[in-house]
Amino acid sequence: MDKTVKEIRMRFCDFDQGHVFKFWEILSEDERIKLLQQTKYIDLEYLSEIFRSVLHERRSDHDFLLNIQPAKFVKFPNSEADWLKCGDIAHVGAQKIREGKVAIFTVAGGHSTRLGCLIPKGMVPITPIKKKSMFQVFAEKILVAEKKYEQKFHWIILTSDKTHNETIEFFGKKNSFGIENVHFIKQGLMPAIDFDGKIIMEARDRIAMHPNGHGGALKALGQSGMLAMLENAGVDTVSYFQVDNPLVRCIDPYLIGIHVKNQAQITSRMVKKLYPEEKVGVFCEHGGKMHVVEYSDLPKECAMARTSTGELQFCAGNTAIHVFDVQFIRRFNGDDIQSEIPYHMAKKVIPTIDNLGEPFTPNVSNGIKLEMFIFDAFPFADLSVIVESDRSEIFSPLKNSEGMDSPKTCKQDQLRLFAHWLLQAGADIPTDATGLPPFDIEISPMFADNERDFMKKWEKLENKPAIGPGQYIE
Ligand code: UD1
Repeated sequence: MDKTVKEIRMRFCDFDQGHVFKFWEILSEDERIKLLQQTKYIDLEYLSEIFRSVLHERRSDHDFLLNIQPAKFVKFPNSEADWLKCGDIAHVGAQKIREGKVAIFTVAGGHSTRLGCLIPKGMVPITPIKKKSMFQVFAEKILVAEKKYEQKFHWIILTSDKTHNETIEFFGKKNSFGIENVHFIKQGLMPAIDFDGKIIMEARDRIAMHPNGHGGALKALGQSGMLAMLENAGVDTVSYFQVDNPLVRCIDPYLIGIHVKNQAQITSRMVKKLYPEEKVGVFCEHGGKMHVVEYSDLPKECAMARTSTGELQFCAGNTAIHVFDVQFIRRFNGDDIQSEIPYHMAKKVIPTIDNLGEPFTPNVSNGIKLEMFIFDAFPFADLSVIVESDRSEIFSPLKNSEGMDSPKTCKQDQLRLFAHWLLQAGADIPTDATGLPPFDIEISPMFADNERDFMKKWEKLENKPAIGPGQYIE
């Protein structure tokens, strides 16, 4: 043991990280064991390589951003002929789903710092009347699809150290909402580092660690054995979405149909940005490849640029709803260094310790969190397709506790969507100019999770309820 400890400490010194053991002599036996456990998971060579590469990335960012072009996308249907074509495409997607070749992947490892809630985002009550959680909403959509396509889908949920136990407990208590094949995989961790690349200590016996970003999801699929399991089960397509969007279609025949028809490796839903500063990533092209540029990185002149008809030039907002080819995911799980998703650095205030080992939280950023983003896999694809979508049907993310993308806007967007379906089906419901009804209603995904299915079901209802405050349709 002592010899191993000595070797580990020497290795940390060799990489200029000897300070990690600064308080070793005064740590208790338990504390020493904890610290050693953490150090086992840190690949120092990898860490210093990544630190060098993020510094380099900052230098090359500028040239990259000077040469981006707006992405081309499949336009939203606007004629009857277009809609007919959509029907055919959805049919192709439905066929793939029915053959059991599609699995579902939700990333739910984030810390929800902006939302400021103490529970994982997937457990946050989100529907207007029944206050169903995000996870329940997704589960019900999946259950309906299971019935419709006569298939049991694999639903993989990416968690992190922060969300793993609570999420599993939650599913346990709810009996996985009746879904048989739910799998949880944990994403990797990275140590936080200061601006010189030195590991930041959170306590005398603890390194400040954080999830490695949702870009770690593709590797986590391989490392957990899930990818092999999917391959063995004959799954070749993964429907991917974030835990923060209650309007998402968890399994989407139209999107999957486009993916199949184009033989794409990634197919994504985009919505037109509402205004230049909207906090969504933007699909762009660079060197013939698809990229997403984060809102924080998009140069102001690109964000503001308009076409001759007054539309935003860089209008393709990233909904983070993607369909991936399983073989493409496999590519990120080999030894090929050329297929490594790059890390981004985010300057953050990271609670740490002072020279005496006492905890303190600085007032300004003191370090860097290193994260990979899933969309940095896009440039590796030979073919990726972007599909324009109706925001009101598929996208209302929960990010902040107030204002934009908050519980309030999420609820209003659900209410507008439900009211729209009802109006389309001929029901009577008052709404304001934005389509918002003056009272709460809710349509269970178990009744319908899209307009088309809602209309069909509603038409067949013998006793159609009068729509008023508190109406729940299931
Ligand atoms: C994200 C996208 C943005 C897109 C927007 C749509 C990034 C960097 N940007 O923005 O392009 O327009 O969503 O809503 O993703 N997560 C993990 N592990 C992590 C970090 C995050 O699983 O280590 C999950 C979260 O649980 C969440 C999702 O990833 O489901 C998004 O993370 P978040 O930090 O909220 O991204 P945004 O900045 O909102």
